[in-house]
Formats: sequence, C-alpha cells, structure tokens
Amino acid sequence: MSYEVKNEQLKAWVAEVEAMCEPANIHWCDGSQEEYDRLCGQMVESGTFRKLNPEKRPNSYLAFSDPIDVARVEDRTFICSLNKQDAGPTNNWVAPKEMKETLKGLFKGCMKGRTMYVIPFSMGPLGSNIAKIGVEITDSPYVVVNMRIMTRMGKQVLDVLGNGEFVPCLHSVGMPLAEGQKDVAWPCNKEKYIVHFPEERAIWSFGSGYGGNALLGKKCLALRIASVQARDEGWLAEHMLILGVESPTGEKSYVGAAFPSACGKTNFAMLIPPKPFQDKGWKVTTIGDDIAWIKPGADGQVYAINPEYGYFGVAPGTNYKTNPNAMISCEKNSIFTNVALTEDGDVWWEGMDGEVPAKLTDWQGNAWTPDCGRPAAHPNARFTAPASQCPCIDPEWENPKGVPMSAFIFGGRRKDTVPLVYQAFNWNYGVYLASTLGSETTAAAVGATGNVRRDPFAMLPFCGYHMADYFAHWLQFGRSIARPPRIFSVNWFRKDANGKFIWPGYGENMRVLKWIAERVQGKTGSVECPLGWMPRYEDMDWEGIEMSREKFNELMSVDRDVWQNEVISHEELFVKMYDKLPKEFLHIRELILSSLWRSPEHWEQIGEVHPEGWNE
Ligand code: OXD
Ligand code: MN
Repeated sequence: MSYEVKNEQLKAWVAEVEAMCEPANIHWCDGSQEEYDRLCGQMVESGTFRKLNPEKRPNSYLAFSDPIDVARVEDRTFICSLNKQDAGPTNNWVAPKEMKETLKGLFKGCMKGRTMYVIPFSMGPLGSNIAKIGVEITDSPYVVVNMRIMTRMGKQVLDVLGNGEFVPCLHSVGMPLAEGQKDVAWPCNKEKYIVHFPEERAIWSFGSGYGGNALLGKKCLALRIASVQARDEGWLAEHMLILGVESPTGEKSYVGAAFPSACGKTNFAMLIPPKPFQDKGWKVTTIGDDIAWIKPGADGQVYAINPEYGYFGVAPGTNYKTNPNAMISCEKNSIFTNVALTEDGDVWWEGMDGEVPAKLTDWQGNAWTPDCGRPAAHPNARFTAPASQCPCIDPEWENPKGVPMSAFIFGGRRKDTVPLVYQAFNWNYGVYLASTLGSETTAAAVGATGNVRRDPFAMLPFCGYHMADYFAHWLQFGRSIARPPRIFSVNWFRKDANGKFIWPGYGENMRVLKWIAERVQGKTGSVECPLGWMPRYEDMDWEGIEMSREKFNELMSVDRDVWQNEVISHEELFVKMYDKLPKEFLHIRELILSSLWRSPEHWEQIGEVHPEGWNE
C-alpha cells in the first residue's frame, strides 16, 4: 500500500475483491502527475497508447479501442433492484442474487496477470456537501488515467472520506492473462455486463474498457446510482449541461440543458455568442457539459454543481468554428480515443478544420486515404480533456455550494414536428414535455441510428429506477420549491423539404438562449400557442443574421395533424408505465389535445399578433 488507508469498510472490500479477482498486484492510486505519467508511459510500451507529437499536442495520447468496444452497451446495462417493478419497463432487470452469481463467476480470477488499481474519487468539489465519494477498482490503466481527468481522484479523497460511506465501483476488462501471455493493446471481453445494485449503491462492470461503460464515476455513479440517491434524498441527478449567460447589464442566469447523447451538449455548454452579441456584452460561461446535480437551497432557489472534472466529448464534427472552446480544451494534456492519427503525430477526425489529410492512420490502425470509403475516426470517437483548460469555464464552477438555476431546457434531434423553442406554461407542463422528449438515435450507443425514440429528460439510458417514479419525483420536487426554474423546449435540428437544416445552430443558438434568459428575467415578450409560450419574430434578436419571417415561421410551425400524431405517440411510452404514471400527465395530454383543436382565431385574440408559427 503506497499510503495508509483508515477506512475499514474500504480495506475489507478491497481484500474481498482481491481474493475474487486474483490480480498479480495491487496499486492504490495517489492521483499524482508522476503516477499519471508513469501509467501513460507503460501504456505506450504495451501498445494501448501512442504518444502524440509533443509540439502539436503536448502531453497527449491516442488509444484505438477494439472495434467491438466503441460505445455504451445499453442492452447489456442492468438495474438490479430487489423488486423488478422498481427498475421499471425501460431498464433491463435481473434479480440481484442471480446477477451476483453470474458476476462472481465472471470476476473469479478475471484480473490474473494484471495490476488491480484502487481509485478513490470525488464526484463534485472535494468536501462539498453536494459531492459524493466513490472508489473504483479496475484492472485497466486506461481507466485510471481517464478517471484522473474526469474526476477529482487520489489520496486526498480518502482524507475527506475518513470512515464515511463510499460507492463501491468494480470494473474489469474481463481478460485475464495466463502466465507469460502477451497482453493485447485494448483488452476487453465479448461478454459485457454494466450492472447497478441501487439498494446496495454498488456498481459492477465487466468486459468493456470504453468510457461510459468503464469510467464508473460518470454514467453509472453520477446518473444511475445518484438518481436513486436523489429520489430518496429530495434532489435531482440529471443528464444536463450547465451554463451561465450574462447580459450586457451584468445580469447572470444559470441554465441547465438536457439533450440525448451526441446531440451537441458540449457545443451548447461552450457556446460563443455571434459577434454583434459579443459587441453588446453578452457572455456565456461553462459549468459542465454532461451532468448536473441539483439541490434545493434554503432561499427557495435550486442550486447545481457539475460533479465532473473534465470533458469526455464527441470529437467528430468538433472544430474551431463549431466549438473553439472544446478545441482549445483538448490542445494539451488530453487523451483521444478512436480518432485518426496524422503523419506528423497529431489527431484528426471528420469535420476538423482545414484540408482533409492525404494520408492517415484510421481508428482501427489501418492506412487511410480520403477516397477509401471509410471514416477515419469512429463516429463516437472521444477526447478526454481537463475542464480547467476550457477558456470559458465559469468562475463559479468549483463553488461547493453550486450555482442558482433559472431555467431548464430540453431538446432532442427532430427533423420535423418540434418548433425551435417554446416555454412550458408551468412546471407540470414542463415535466410533461421533458418526459415525452423524443430524439433520433445517434452513435453514442450501439444500435441503429436515426430512429425517433422517446428519451424522457434525455435520461432513458441513465435512470436508475422506474421512469414513471422519476416523473413523479420531478413533479414533487417542483411542488417543494418556492422559486422553480422555468422550463423550455428547443430543437436545433429541424429540416426543410429538401432535407437541409433550417437553423444554423452552434453559436447562433445564442439567439434562443437570449430569449430564454430574458424570459426568466421577465424582460421579453411571447405569445401563447397550443404547446406553451413562443417568441414572436420581433421577440428575437436577429442582428447579424439573415432570417426571414417565412423561415422563422417554418422553424416555429406547429401542425395540428402532426401534433395529434405526436401526442398519440406519447401513449406508447405511457402505456408501458401505466401502473405508475402520474395522473397529472393524462390531464396535461388532454389539455394539449384540446388546445390543438382551438381555432386559429382564438390564438389571434390571445396573442397581440397572430402567432405566425401556428398552422391550422
Ligand atoms: C456521454 C453519453 O458519453 O451520453 O456523455 O454517451
Ligand atoms: Mn452524456
């Protein structure tokens, strides 16, 4: 042991895991730079890492994964609550006793020939009363170094932990080494299990080395286990970015935004306002890009922290135009996974700035040329970068108390149906719109891409209990706070009849964000429409962009027939969870349907002007 450990429970658990997994040795991670450099050096030797050209990408590395281990495996992810009903219809469930038997069989001797690393980590600023401590045991040095970027990790966490409680997170790549057997560059197993025991607050992950399956602080602890703790303790653990938006007069609002995986959360979190907005003095700052832990404060407001310490961002499509802040964040001290390697030892991915290189090594280690017909980077290729390197990091991002939240935004990837932006009439409506969030599937999870699936609160793959109980928890949370944040829906991805995106997105999303910030500050207008409050053309700031009324109307249009079908399709989700569905939802659904049936003249009278987006 490289330092003294006082926590008896931790010592006992580590001994138990050692006896089961039979590693060649144990290393307690201290979190130092020296340890990080040594492990990276070892991985360069073993072939897991390639060191990138230090002049182009100082202190950075590239890993190519096994092609069978490139994304989260939702069909191999389990919530093993004592009662099946508590996991709900949207989670895979196996009885905990049975699952433990299976896992014990798989973990028996699974670390043979490998080092077992013990990683104490804190989700959230060390010592914050919102933070939680976990300990990950893993046989993957790739996990250790990524955890050092993504969490506050090392010896100092044990000092804060003392004899307190921690979430045990057990991970193995599931590939024991026989005596003298040479390791492969990316060990993993065909069989994968990402398992959560919510009552026990424990995580067991087997067979995958990929981020979301293996960096257990992120999706497994900070969302699946934390969502259960949040339900029991009266707070929220959400798949949300947090950003700060400051007006020219210095008013600052913090907003949380939930989008399904690979729908641009990192880009929105680090948005750079268009030039005319910058000139006027609008600023956007980042607290987090993926996860928010949200608690009620004594003053009736809600406060949020980002439990993470780094970004695990999707690389393809990221460039100095779409997200300069992300590009700068990963200029050094970063780890890249499944992007391509240039001839001069730097990284490349589809959508990067500049010319497409004539020759690359692709993410599978093969020679690549632009005409070879294969992508050079995997669509779910990632960068792991320290949050502190983000140029627009908010000065409050490490405040242990969190930041006060004014709005929650929910958005999916929808080529039709959903308007650019609208505000829910009230909290309950907002909970309904978030619960029925739909999005076209992406490469962040294994499976077909491009189909619309309901992804309530962008939490479908991350909720550790029955989704309808989660909806009820949100409704109850709203009832319990004096100053609830306002709730909005956005859709950046609407397409025209020719299949082209109508909205330019990226920095231009500032126009929508400004309307939202001014709505929560009570400073701008809107018009009532069947779904909620919408900006009129004149409520939006169009300086520096060409946006005709016609185009805006196309973006904002709500079509009665289309929406009737949309509302009917909410039923598909609801019938699955009928036994626990909050009764409020049935009423809200009826209210939306009855609003859709009101005549356009009705809306004309309610709005000062005709809500032009409203199609009969
Ligand atoms: C992520 C995801 O990695 O949502 O953040 O898949
Ligand atoms: Mn995510």
